[in-house]
Amino acid sequence: MHYFCSTIIDGAVNTYINTTIEVIDGSSVCIGSCRQLLERLLPEGRRIIVITDATIDRLYRSLLEPYECFVIGVGESGKTLHTAAALYRKLIETEADRSCFVLGVGGGVVTDIAGFVASTYMRGLEFGFVSTTLLGQVDAAVGGKNGVNVDGFKNMVGTFNQPKFAICDTEMLKTLPEREFRAGLAEVIKAAVIADTELFELLENSSPAELRGNGELLSRVVTSAVKVKIGIVSRDACEKGERRKLNLGHTVGHAIEKCSHTMNHGEAVAAGMAAAVRMAEVLKVLPSADGERILRLLERYGFDLTLPATPRRLANAILKDKKITGDTLNMILPEGIGSCRIFAVPKSEIGELLCKQHKPEKVRFAENP
Ligand code: GLY
Repeated sequence: MHYFCSTIIDGAVNTYINTTIEVIDGSSVCIGSCRQLLERLLPEGRRIIVITDATIDRLYRSLLEPYECFVIGVGESGKTLHTAAALYRKLIETEADRSCFVLGVGGGVVTDIAGFVASTYMRGLEFGFVSTTLLGQVDAAVGGKNGVNVDGFKNMVGTFNQPKFAICDTEMLKTLPEREFRAGLAEVIKAAVIADTELFELLENSSPAELRGNGELLSRVVTSAVKVKIGIVSRDACEKGERRKLNLGHTVGHAIEKCSHTMNHGEAVAAGMAAAVRMAEVLKVLPSADGERILRLLERYGFDLTLPATPRRLANAILKDKKITGDTLNMILPEGIGSCRIFAVPKSEIGELLCKQHKPEKVRFAENP
């Protein structure tokens, strides 16, 4: 099989060099060939336990063959304590102990649950990830948030615990359905809006099809997005402050996901980012030319920015979020391309802010407000 063969480090084109970026406490994100990186990174002489899902098990059978594999069901509905308990039982049955190394291989659901189970079984096993989705490579697998959903509330139980490594092999994204690939691009656009003007411009001068078809360009984009995330996580691993910026588009995005039932996470984040742009325009913290560029990029990347519910329904969904406490809500709003800030918005004003738009003709609601 041909493996991806070139990447760019600090502007220099190399024929084949893995990019390794240190996150924190000996944890790194490695961009390059999965097989080669696994050979280098998996601890020698230890029992390796792979946690993966049925799709990845089928697609990457030859990669996973040498390892003991625990296979979970596919999809967000399985990211539960029930699945975690099944994995704990399997670990007990097979007499796994603290010397075992857990390798989560899959998208965000798999790496979240594998990281959570590894972090909690016997008070913690070492673990690493091979991230197989674009969304996972630029967000979910990076930064040490591991967890499960409880009663439909997302990531209510979990840990902050960094994997020893997260491997991002852009070659693996070739097996990703087109819609999933595009969903990951929402998180890439998010990273660019938060802190990388150059990445934003690169995305403006490219397209989803071009990125998908050009391994070198894609690995450059993944590397840049990962660097944005790592930069923030290395300063605030446990989300006491700055890390909240990574939630750009997510406050409204999670509400959109709850109200829509058809949009996936990336699509909801894209629509949530558009809502954040419009809020920033209402509050006059974002120059409208920059707002236009962000909205145009999101639309050009194929995202439907229509809000799937009324502002009232969305506001209710936002305020039901169990993780929001106190009278204010931390809204992450862009102040320009490559810069955003955390705003404490009174909860009572969220509905109005969703309704009141600087340029109402640009706002589309699927239901009448
Ligand atoms: N997905 C946002 C974060 O990792 O903080």
